[in-house]
Amino acid sequence: MFQSLFESGLAPHGICLLWDPALLWLHATSDLLIGISYYVIPLGLAWLTIRRRDLIFGWMFWLFALFILACGTTHFMDVWVLWHPDYGVQGLLKAFTAVASVLTASLLWVIVPRLLAIPTPEQLKRVSNQLTEETVRHERTAEQLRRSEESFRLLIESVRDYAVFMMDRAGRITSWNVGAQNITGFRQDEIIGQHYARFFTPEDQAGGKPMRMMVTAEAEGVCHDEGWRVRKDGTLFIADSTIHSIVDDDGVLIGFSKVTRDITQRRQAERDLEQARSALAQSQKMQAVGQLTGGIAHDFNNMLTAVLGGVELIETAREAVSPSVARTIRMIRRAADHGAELTTRLLAFSRKQTLIPGITDLNRLVSETMELLRRTLGNSITLEMELSSDVWPIFVDANQVEAALLNLAVNARDAMADGGTLTITTGNIHLDEQYSRHHDEIASGDYAFIAVRDTGCGMPSDVLEHALEPFYTTKGVGKGTGLGLSQVYGFVKQSGGHVELQSRVGAGTTVMMYFPRSHAEAAVAGQAVSRSGPALPTGTEKILIVEDEEEVRAYSVTAARHLGYDVIEARDAQTALSLLQEKAGISLLLTDVGLPGVDGRDLARMAQSAHPALKIVFTSGYAQPTLAELGLLDRGVRLLPKPFRIEDLAHALRSALDADRGDTDEGTKASG
Ligand SMILES: Nc1ncnc2c1ncn2[C@@H]1O[C@H](COP(=O)(O)OP(=O)(O)OP(=O)(O)O)[C@@H](O)[C@H]1O
Ligand SMILES: [Mg+2]
Repeated sequence: MFQSLFESGLAPHGICLLWDPALLWLHATSDLLIGISYYVIPLGLAWLTIRRRDLIFGWMFWLFALFILACGTTHFMDVWVLWHPDYGVQGLLKAFTAVASVLTASLLWVIVPRLLAIPTPEQLKRVSNQLTEETVRHERTAEQLRRSEESFRLLIESVRDYAVFMMDRAGRITSWNVGAQNITGFRQDEIIGQHYARFFTPEDQAGGKPMRMMVTAEAEGVCHDEGWRVRKDGTLFIADSTIHSIVDDDGVLIGFSKVTRDITQRRQAERDLEQARSALAQSQKMQAVGQLTGGIAHDFNNMLTAVLGGVELIETAREAVSPSVARTIRMIRRAADHGAELTTRLLAFSRKQTLIPGITDLNRLVSETMELLRRTLGNSITLEMELSSDVWPIFVDANQVEAALLNLAVNARDAMADGGTLTITTGNIHLDEQYSRHHDEIASGDYAFIAVRDTGCGMPSDVLEHALEPFYTTKGVGKGTGLGLSQVYGFVKQSGGHVELQSRVGAGTTVMMYFPRSHAEAAVAGQAVSRSGPALPTGTEKILIVEDEEEVRAYSVTAARHLGYDVIEARDAQTALSLLQEKAGISLLLTDVGLPGVDGRDLARMAQSAHPALKIVFTSGYAQPTLAELGLLDRGVRLLPKPFRIEDLAHALRSALDADRGDTDEGTKASG
């Protein structure tokens, strides 16, 4: 059959047109033009599909191109068969074209619904508009977010007192604020990327604290800590810090935030306050104890004055006594002397001893005490001195400084049973406001100091806490009274100074005595008062003795009469004033300062205004500063501290009676 298709013998198609040139031209030209156009169309389609690879249904274009190409070829074939009768080839070509056409047509029905699903340009425009709006909205939100982030960053940046920074999961720093730089000293470019453990002390690092804190923060969400941290320059500060874990929406840890505050100053202030509070409590306790002991000592003094005076009167009486009575009297005297010594020490503690201060050169005083101290310490202890030149002069009772030194030396000796070294240092120091805030009762200013340092056993803190209190001793019964340090403390305080104890078990003890600097020139170190004379000065003048204590009055009256004076007595100021009015020729008033009702000071003032020539002698169990306030010192007034002996009384009365008003007599006059 196929063979018959290619058999010749058929007439060319032109014959059908009767070789009419017009018809031939018309058919040939039209078919050629159609054929050429049909060939050009696939080229265009190929161009399009090659260039636009994203074209949907691109294969459809290729199929269409093939179909058109086949159509074009049939038209060329139509021209060919006008002269050549190859109808078999033409038929096959048509068959091929038919297949291409059917394929294209049927596929078109398949893809048209799909093509219809593709949005129209109108729809696309609408969608595009929506997209534009969406984009604008999105940009606006992004801008707001950016602004909010910026203001949040500025907020964090402006925090200057808190270090606020972020860390990654491993603890490496990823952000840093000004506060962090202020507190730690690190700039942002120096610290980003570093591990936060570098702020911890070497001990904390070795103990794994930074890691522990991160683990806690991860497990519990937060970790709080207060402790020492290290700055860039190596200095330490106390940090109050909090670490929070940061997790994403799925709860996965992405890092940590850390907020740290430097609370060094606050802690310091709290410690200062605590220290000041305990110093105040300590000083209030000492004051209360001082007041109590002072009161007791004062009353005992009065009684002892009577006892000692009574004993002295018996001893100086001419009547002979039996040896056993004499022994008893000696025993009474020894006991009373001992009591008087004890009350003196108690008065010293309660800052009420009679002081005779003078401008003193500490170095000279210490040098003069050397020999005594050496003898006290014995051979097993080395005594060393470190006297700084130009120690400021001080206004103190030099005898009491010596007594204090001796007291401290005895304590040091007891603490160095197996020998050691005692070092006495002198020097100048300025105690500033801060020091005075932490030590109650001490004003800031210039002080000269003596430090007594031993290499002995030292004191545990509970002993140190109580060592200054009277009767506190760790020494066995009969070995220590516990009054040594109390006496030193009271004396130094009374002199306007300050005592500081530093001691550690096994490391020895240092006792510092600070005395306020005096701006007068140092004159003589030590002003021992000589009160002994071969015979007691006597007199016959009329004197008035005012004393509320029965025993003391009885003793004073008897003693004065013993000295030859014409004595009248009164137990209070009222009686004294009326006696002064009634009795003529009273030359001297001997009065106790502490009288009930009108006190001795007012009595003296009133008496002197009525009798300007009247001489005054005060007796008192208390100390100088109280009497210094009398305002009568430069008017020939004398002070007779209790307990007093007959010879003290004799000297006081005589020197007051013999003095012209306005002169002074260093021996018996109260100074200061
Ligand atoms: N240098 C020192 N080394 C070690 N402990 C000391 C020193 N000085 C004082 N102490 C302790 O302080 C306590 C009180 O001392 P303080 O001088 O007041 O009394 P005392 O020495 O016991 O008795 P007193 O001095 O009246 O004979 C002592 O018992 C001792 O425990
Ligand atoms: Mg002692």
